[in-house]
Amino acid sequence: MDKPITLITGTRKGIGKYLSEYYVEKGHIVIGCSRSSIDWSLPNYKHFELDVSDEKSVRNLFRCVRKEYGRVDNVINNAGIASMNHALITPLSTVNEVLKTNFIGTFLFCREAGKMMTKNKYGRIVNFTTVATPLKLEGEAVYAASKAAILSLTQVLARELAPFNITVNAIGPTPIETDLIRSVPNEKMQALVQRQAINRYGEFQDVSNVIDFYINKKSDFITGQNIYLGGVS
Ligand SMILES: NC(=O)c1ccc[n+]([C@@H]2O[C@H](COP(=O)([O-])OP(=O)(O)OC[C@H]3O[C@@H](n4cnc5c(N)ncnc54)[C@H](OP(=O)(O)O)[C@@H]3O)[C@@H](O)[C@H]2O)c1
Repeated sequence: MDKPITLITGTRKGIGKYLSEYYVEKGHIVIGCSRSSIDWSLPNYKHFELDVSDEKSVRNLFRCVRKEYGRVDNVINNAGIASMNHALITPLSTVNEVLKTNFIGTFLFCREAGKMMTKNKYGRIVNFTTVATPLKLEGEAVYAASKAAILSLTQVLARELAPFNITVNAIGPTPIETDLIRSVPNEKMQALVQRQAINRYGEFQDVSNVIDFYINKKSDFITGQNIYLGGVS
């Protein structure tokens, strides 16, 4: 089977849904997942209903992938949730949810993907960070911290997996119009966009452009990197 096998988390809607359509269109076999069922379908797309922080379900997904395809070439850890709240009024339950989904979920998929890719001596892992971390956005302390943890994981894993020809990189989007940011007041979003070097919202294509670069077979000397969109650094 020469079609790339690409696993994407959080594919029910938003950026993950777009990436599923995009990579199926490019000839990949896409395996996706989300907590709820999807109301769309695609050829060469298989969906798993799971929570990315549930270790048993994640291991089961990888068992199914091994059985059906024998390998995974690309893993895109897109699933994520945000909590926009002042730290002083953020309940512990929210902190747990954000860390579980964003950090633990990314960790579990990196670990299981790493095991499978190691055997095949090839792999590309792409994680999701956010400009909220370098911009130190007020009201996003927990979300920004969860993504800072993902960045650190990405950088260390890049070293641990380099001997196996596996690269691990990250992309940090600026605001992109999805449900994730719909509850944030427009003035706040406009102020954020003004702090970017390029003052516009991100588009889905800006994300797939960076991921295309990372998962390109020629990018085998690119690892442990994080690209923020919009000129944020
Ligand atoms: N949009 C932005 O402005 C922006 C900016 C910077 C970074 N990002 C990052 O980009 C990624 C995608 O965000 P988005 O804007 O597309 O968000 P979104 O529209 O809210 O979609 C999130 C997706 O993740 C899934 N998901 C959430 N929690 C999950 C869990 N525990 N297990 C499995 N799936 C889960 C959701 O499906 P279910 O609800 O069915 O589980 C949904 O498909 C996130 O990592 C986010 O932090 C986005």
